[in-house]
Amino acid sequence: MLVVAVFLTAMLAVAGEDVEAVEAVEAVDAFEVLDPSTLVGQLTVLQLKELIAETMAQALVPLHHNCTDYSETGDCGLVVENGLCGAEEFYARYCCRSCTLAKQIPTYGPHLSLTAKAPISINVTTDLVKYPRGSNVTITCEATGYPTPEVVWFRNYNEISSIGEYEEDTEVLGGILLKTIRSNLIIDNYSVDYSHFQCMAINSEGLAKSSITIYIEDELSVVLLPEVPIMEAKNEVVLDCVATGADVNEVIWFREVELIHNSNEYRIIERRSFEDGLTKIHSKLTILRHKTEDSGSLFTCSAIDRKGGNKEKKACYEESHRCEFKQEYIYRYCCKTCTLMGVLPTYGPHLRGDAEAPLEVSIQTNSTVVPYGGDAELVCMTSGFPGRQSVMWLKKDELIRESNNIHIKHNSACSPLLCEVSASLLIKGIKISDTGKYICRTSNVVGMKDALVLLRSMEDGEIYIDIDY
Ligand SMILES: *[C@@H]1O[C@H](CO)[C@@H](O)[C@H](O)[C@H]1NC(C)=O
Ligand SMILES: *[C@@H]1O[C@H](CO)[C@@H](O)[C@H](O)[C@H]1NC(C)=O
Ligand SMILES: *[C@@H]1O[C@H](CO)[C@@H](O)[C@H](O)[C@H]1NC(C)=O
Ligand SMILES: *[C@@H]1O[C@H](CO)[C@@H](O)[C@H](O)[C@H]1NC(C)=O
Ligand SMILES: *[C@@H]1O[C@H](CO)[C@@H](O)[C@H](O)[C@H]1NC(C)=O
Repeated sequence: MLVVAVFLTAMLAVAGEDVEAVEAVEAVDAFEVLDPSTLVGQLTVLQLKELIAETMAQALVPLHHNCTDYSETGDCGLVVENGLCGAEEFYARYCCRSCTLAKQIPTYGPHLSLTAKAPISINVTTDLVKYPRGSNVTITCEATGYPTPEVVWFRNYNEISSIGEYEEDTEVLGGILLKTIRSNLIIDNYSVDYSHFQCMAINSEGLAKSSITIYIEDELSVVLLPEVPIMEAKNEVVLDCVATGADVNEVIWFREVELIHNSNEYRIIERRSFEDGLTKIHSKLTILRHKTEDSGSLFTCSAIDRKGGNKEKKACYEESHRCEFKQEYIYRYCCKTCTLMGVLPTYGPHLRGDAEAPLEVSIQTNSTVVPYGGDAELVCMTSGFPGRQSVMWLKKDELIRESNNIHIKHNSACSPLLCEVSASLLIKGIKISDTGKYICRTSNVVGMKDALVLLRSMEDGEIYIDIDY
C-alpha cells in the first residue's frame, strides 16, 4: 500500500502539482526502508528514480517563448486533467505551458506557430416553427468557442440586438476552455406572418451564424360552397364563401381573372361576425342571369388579410421618394428624411419663421464600417446662437463618461453670430456591448436638440455606424 501511495505522489509532482518538499523527502525515506531485493520493490524504486529524474529534467525544459497559457482562462489545468492537450491543436496552442509540462504534447510542434484557432459552433433552436398568432416565442441560440463568443440577433437580415427590439436573456454555460454561451430571444405576442431569425456568434477568432424561420400557423381559411361545379342551367346560381382568420379584412370574387362587383349580373351580400378572436366573413355571390357560358367559368373567392401598419419613421425612409413630390404634409411628416435626402434645405421656411437661430446638431464619422475590435470615432457637430451651447453624449439615457476605451474631446469655434461646438466620441476596441443607440444632445437658452446614431453589428461581424437612423 505504501508503494502505491508514494508512486501517486511522484505522479502528481510530474503533473505539476505542488508537492511539499518535506513530503517528497519523507517519501524517499520511506523507500529506503523497503527491501530492494524483492522484484516489486526493485522495479518500484527504479521507476520512482526515473520519474524523479524526469521531473528534474522537466524543470529545466526551456519553453519556447510562444509557449504560454492564455492567462485570461484558468482552464488549462482542466485541459490537462481531461487529457485534451493532444485532442485539437488549439488546446496545445492556448494551454501550451501546462500541456508541455504535463508531457501531453512535445516541446516543439505546430502549436508554437500560434495559428490554430478554436472553431465556433452554433445552433438555433425553438420549440416549434409554426405558432398561433399572439404566441410567446422563445428562440434559443447556443454558441461555443474560445474566447467566449458574443451573440447578436438579426430579424429579416436586420440587426435587432442593438435596438433592444426583443428581450434577450444571455448566459454563459461554461465548458473546458471552449465556453458555451446561450442567448434566448423572447418574443411576446408574435404576430408577423413569418420572420427569419438569425443568430451570429463572434469572437476575436471568427464568427458563425445559424438561423430559423418562424411562421404564423395558417389560420386564414376560405371555404367555397358548393364544392361541385354547377351544371344545371338555372336562372340563379348562388355561391357561398366563408373566410375565417384573425386579420381577415375582405372577401373578393373573381370570374376567371375579372373582379366581380355588384351589378345587374352579380349580387354580393356579406355578413361579418367575430368569435374567439377570429373574424368570419360570409360572402354570398348570386349570379343573376346565369348564362350557359358561366357554367364553364371558374369562379374564385379570395380572402385578404389586413397588413400590419408600418412605423412612421420606417415609412418615411422606405417612401423617401415622396419627398420629391413637394407636398407640405410629407415635409412636415418626414422632415428629417427629406432633409437628409437633400430635397429640403437644412434652413428654410418649413422650419418656421422664428427669430431664434436654429440649434443644429449632426453626427459624422470618418468611416461607417468598423471591424470588430477596431476603433470608431463619432463626431457630433452643433451650431447655435446665442452663447456657447453645451454638447454631451448619452447612451441608454445616461451621460457617457471617459473610461479606458471611451475618450471624449470637445472643440469650439464661435463667431459673433454663431457658435460651432463639436464633441468627438472615440470608442477603442469596439465590441458588441458598444453597439446600440447613441445620442448627442446639445442645448442653449433657445432649446435642446438631439442627434441619434445607431451602432449595429452586420452579418460579417463588422460594426455599422448608422448615422441616418
Ligand atoms: C512564434 O509565433 C510567431 C507568431 O507570433 C511565429 O511567426 C513564429 O514562427 C512562432 N515560432 C515558432 C517556433 O513556431
Ligand atoms: C406571454 O407572456 C406574457 C408575459 O410576458 C404573459 O402575460 C402572457 O400571458 C403570455 N401569453 C401566452 C399566450 O402565453
Ligand atoms: C446544438 O444542439 C445539440 C442538440 O440539439 C447540442 O447537443 C449541441 O451541443 C449544440 N451545439 C452547440 C454549439 O451548442
Ligand atoms: C398583440 O399584437 C397585436 C398586433 O401587433 C395587437 O393588436 C394586440 O393588441 C397585441 N396583444 C397583446 C396582448 O399585447
Ligand atoms: C477613423 O478614426 C479612428 C480614430 O481616430 C482611427 O483609428 C481610424 O483609423 C480612422 N479611420 C479612417 C478610415 O480614417
